[in-house]
Amino acid sequence: MNHDDAEKRINQLRRIISYHNALYYQQDAPEITDAQYDQFFRELSDLEAQFPELATPDSPTQRVGAPPLEKFSPVTHLIPMLSLANAFSDDELLQFDARCRRALETEKIIYTVEPKLDGLAVSLLYENGRLRTGSTRGDGLVGEDVTLNIKTIPSVLLSLPQRKNFPPGAIASGSFHIPDRIEIRGEVCMERAAFEKLNRRRSERGEALFANPRNAAAGSLRQLDSRITAKRPLTFFAYAVGVVEGAVFQTHSEILQTLSEWGFQVNPLIRQRVTIAECLDYYHHINGIREDLPYEIDGIVVKIDDLAYQQRLGNVSRSPRWAIACKFAPIQEQTVIEDIVVQIGRTGVLTPVAVLRPVHVAGARVSRATLHNEDEIIRKDIRIGDTVVVQRAGDVIPEVVSVVKELRNGTETVFRMPETCPECGARIVRLEGEVASRCVNLSCPAQLRGHICHFASREALDIEGLGDKLVSQLVSTGLIHDPADLFYLTKDKLIGLERMAEKSSANLLEAIQKSKTPSLSRLIFALGIRHVGESTARLLADEYGSMDRLMKADMTSLLEIRDVGPEVASSIYKFFREPANISVIEKLFRAGVSPVQNTKERAAPLLGKHFVFTGTLNRMTRNDAKSLVESLGGTFESSVTKQTDYVVAGQATGSKMEKARQAGIPILDEEAFFSLVEKMKSKL
Ligand code: IVH
Repeated sequence: MNHDDAEKRINQLRRIISYHNALYYQQDAPEITDAQYDQFFRELSDLEAQFPELATPDSPTQRVGAPPLEKFSPVTHLIPMLSLANAFSDDELLQFDARCRRALETEKIIYTVEPKLDGLAVSLLYENGRLRTGSTRGDGLVGEDVTLNIKTIPSVLLSLPQRKNFPPGAIASGSFHIPDRIEIRGEVCMERAAFEKLNRRRSERGEALFANPRNAAAGSLRQLDSRITAKRPLTFFAYAVGVVEGAVFQTHSEILQTLSEWGFQVNPLIRQRVTIAECLDYYHHINGIREDLPYEIDGIVVKIDDLAYQQRLGNVSRSPRWAIACKFAPIQEQTVIEDIVVQIGRTGVLTPVAVLRPVHVAGARVSRATLHNEDEIIRKDIRIGDTVVVQRAGDVIPEVVSVVKELRNGTETVFRMPETCPECGARIVRLEGEVASRCVNLSCPAQLRGHICHFASREALDIEGLGDKLVSQLVSTGLIHDPADLFYLTKDKLIGLERMAEKSSANLLEAIQKSKTPSLSRLIFALGIRHVGESTARLLADEYGSMDRLMKADMTSLLEIRDVGPEVASSIYKFFREPANISVIEKLFRAGVSPVQNTKERAAPLLGKHFVFTGTLNRMTRNDAKSLVESLGGTFESSVTKQTDYVVAGQATGSKMEKARQAGIPILDEEAFFSLVEKMKSKL
């Protein structure tokens, strides 16, 4: 490819990638599979490597991180990053409103009300539409330069869009006015689900755990090695601007609207309210739903919408007079640790669990809380008999926050990890550099139970009715020794078990039968390969398409998959070289387990369709057509072959049309092509 073609293709790929980023991160409605996304990404990285002069700092390839820094440099914010005054009661919010109306000499104030996100504030400076610097808040005047890390966050725009030209193939429908210089402010957060997954993985690897999503977000953003940040699931919500040069806004809601149009993630729960009573209602409403939100919030923020009013009110010390935060009551309670027991997971890791005097926390009864590992217990100095603060936020499993040491009376006892496995009596070891203690016996019944439960879980083979208790019985009675044995169970074998009558065993056998055609990714996940979670399993299924091909994959090919690092690759490679694992897989297949290929079509409406374009097109260039087809999963070809499904004809067509006609291939005009695309999309 020559320089000019490479430049064109690079620009096209960047448009395609940013289009799909927006669908994925902003609209939560991806149109292509991760594997297809990776393909575009890889093509772009390859081209940029081949033509280094065409690489730019705002290319999506810059998101993978860069070699570590020695330290962060200081950045002076062009406009200070303020903090917010707090209202601790309804009354204080009413006083805030009264103060504002008095100072502005008006009865009518429009407020914007927003969830107060519990992450960390950052400022993104864009110059001529390009992201120049990303910095933390620091003391509000000077923060740290975390540009390389910020760039790895997918929902951060690397450049502001010049044109409203999404999707990449469609014709531009107007242009944006991009300010010469703008600081965009918002919160970097980690969603609860991502946080839990990260901690689960860290616990499996014996790494220290993050206390909450906010700490995890802060810890991830303040990495000197941005390649580590790139692997952390961070997300950015925009909620304000700092300096703005070359654009004028009248209201805060206009700013939010613009940020959202540019493609930033703006919180969908933000509203306008015209009385302070309505703001209070909003506060109570959000307090009621906070547990259901995918991210953590610790209150709401009430802001005066009119920027001229904001200006007139100004600031007191480091907080604006025109905004206030109303915090929620923390979801914490006190209770007593009655005992500490250990649980053995499917990888043999021992997890100490606190048995608590039952207490209601944020609407749920809590009687147990994981203490993660020995080091956590030592760090928090938790003893049996201690009174502790426990918290539960949303789906986050209950946790012991701290010990109320003043309430100790000397009868508390220190917990020690057992030296032998309480389940099978085997040795417990703690490898150097790891925080996890493990049972060394691979056939420890507790591990087997964990393994079977994982295999049958909702995210894996989803075998209904196969819960912990039943698995325990199946293992202890020797009916199953590995997951494949499930498929060889019969009514006769089951009927002897406790609480297993005719009907319940028939139900279980039916559920097991029904699980025989999982998607390939579920089956891969179900195998319980270390470090292979649901998303890695999906990547592997997309990449290899069959268990057989995955089993044969060598290290080189595994390492080519995005998000698969050396540790994960080697774990997969070793798993499939272990005779015991292979025999379980073979036994599964012999029992009739037959994975179905993941339906890529769901996300790619034109998958498997081959298109040829001919003649001059009106609504798009040939290259746009190519990227549109490819971005929807289709194949773009330059000449008509047996494989061609459609020929799209513009004006002044030539021999391709003739060939298509002879071969009986459907010929579409441009309009018909767009309708086809719409039709295929709506069929998904
Ligand atoms: S506006 C001058 N909006 O709260 C106003 N802040 O205590 C500056 N925060 O440092 C911030 N959600 O980290 C604003 N919707 C929101 C927010 C928000 C969370 C945080 C932010 C800031 C702190 C102020």
